[in-house]
Amino acid sequence: MLMVSRLKDLTIITNRLRHYFRNMDAKELQPPSSVRGMQELQREQFRKSVQVPRLQVPESQVQRVMPLVKKFLLKMEHLHLVKAVDKSREILLHPTPVKNWESLPTEELQRQEVTVENFSFAELELSYENWSANEILKSVLPTEEEGLTSYSRIGHIAHLNLRDHLLPYKQLIGQVLRDKLPNCRTVVNKASTIDNTYRNFQLELICGDAEYQVETKENGVPFEFDFSKVYWNPRLSTEHERIVKMLKSDDVLYDVFAGVGPFSVPAAKKRCHVLANDLNPESFRWLQHNAKRNKCLPNIQMFNKDGRQFIVEELREDLLKRLRTTDTTTYAIHITMNLPAMAVEFLDAFRGLYRAEDLAQLPENVCYPTVHVYSFAKGENTKELVRQLVESNLGASLDDSLLQGINFVRNVAPNKDMYRVSFKLSLKLLTTLKEVEITRKRYAEEELEVATKVKCV
Ligand SMILES: C[S@@+](CC[C@H](N)C(=O)[O-])C[C@H]1O[C@@H](n2cnc3c(N)ncnc32)[C@H](O)[C@@H]1O
Repeated sequence: MLMVSRLKDLTIITNRLRHYFRNMDAKELQPPSSVRGMQELQREQFRKSVQVPRLQVPESQVQRVMPLVKKFLLKMEHLHLVKAVDKSREILLHPTPVKNWESLPTEELQRQEVTVENFSFAELELSYENWSANEILKSVLPTEEEGLTSYSRIGHIAHLNLRDHLLPYKQLIGQVLRDKLPNCRTVVNKASTIDNTYRNFQLELICGDAEYQVETKENGVPFEFDFSKVYWNPRLSTEHERIVKMLKSDDVLYDVFAGVGPFSVPAAKKRCHVLANDLNPESFRWLQHNAKRNKCLPNIQMFNKDGRQFIVEELREDLLKRLRTTDTTTYAIHITMNLPAMAVEFLDAFRGLYRAEDLAQLPENVCYPTVHVYSFAKGENTKELVRQLVESNLGASLDDSLLQGINFVRNVAPNKDMYRVSFKLSLKLLTTLKEVEITRKRYAEEELEVATKVKCV
């Protein structure tokens, strides 16, 4: 059953695509070739007239004729398939498959009293309104280099990352997208790579209002924030969904780099117990707003601290209380660390988080948290690279008893991938220091000893 419906979906999609390619392949239906290279948008330059086949039938016959010519209809943006002409109706047909009357299912049409007399070619005026953004940009941008391949939509904002060769066309691209994309009021281009602490994109307004406060939905959950001041990436929505799906009500989530809440808010909505943290005061403010807006305040505590401080203070205390006072076999504890450029550097905060005596009285079957740490890796064999990164920063090898999975999240750039490494914390990890930490501590003790001796002398 599922298979049949998938096949049906596939057929619908292929039919649509076939139609789309036919439009783009039919030279007469493309925008005039004179617009190639245009850098300042002149909408009137897109006007052209074209001869297209048509059927003229009485109004009473339209309902019966339409199913017979369905595959042959001319579909373009803002173009009515059926137009009233005096007392009759004009059905526009596509010039590629319909070269003459014989191209149509003539026998069926004749049974409906439609004959060659009803068939003719007519002049059709096309203009800027009749093409999609994609079609317009394809006809304008240089053919020898890659066109506009993708952009993100965040509420009313379209967010582009234009390659250098497209920069001379940025104003035009912005205007076309604003004209054509539904509810698009602002078009911005990524101004530089994200390398600031709060990971928000540096934006360059290329068209529309400098209005960055957006409302958007991710996996059905509404969010609101200022896109120019916080981190938000719609390309992570599937990953957010994967994590949230893992959680059941009463599970616990510690979200170390929470942003405006795409893990934390849906988790709190699911009645998980959430502790969410972000260093950026703007993210923290919008996180609070989103928790309130989604009516999940009772299930979430929010903090505006450095991730390490959050781990060694809030997470430490809350986790200790849970390990000591609840049955951890009845629910799961998760820790998300999505700051892929540097989250691994925070892993050593878990080493020696407790003294052995803090956890000495715990039952043997106690369940420790699962950490989901995100990381980028560049080059060949990125999966192995990311494992090594996590192991060296944690100061422990992830054997089968700890490692839960290394999952590919997305390709960020050529040769650069983002992964999630999921692993269990253990009594040993939580109560012993990382090897280098031990050495550092020993040095500090030795120095103290020397200093004391010197003082004594
Ligand atoms: C890549 S974003 C992830 C946000 C969100 N979890 C998501 O999945 O979309 C990383 C977040 O970490 C925050 N951040 C950066 N450095 C931090 C630090 N040292 N401590 C806590 N948060 C930090 C940034 O403000 C940003 O919101």
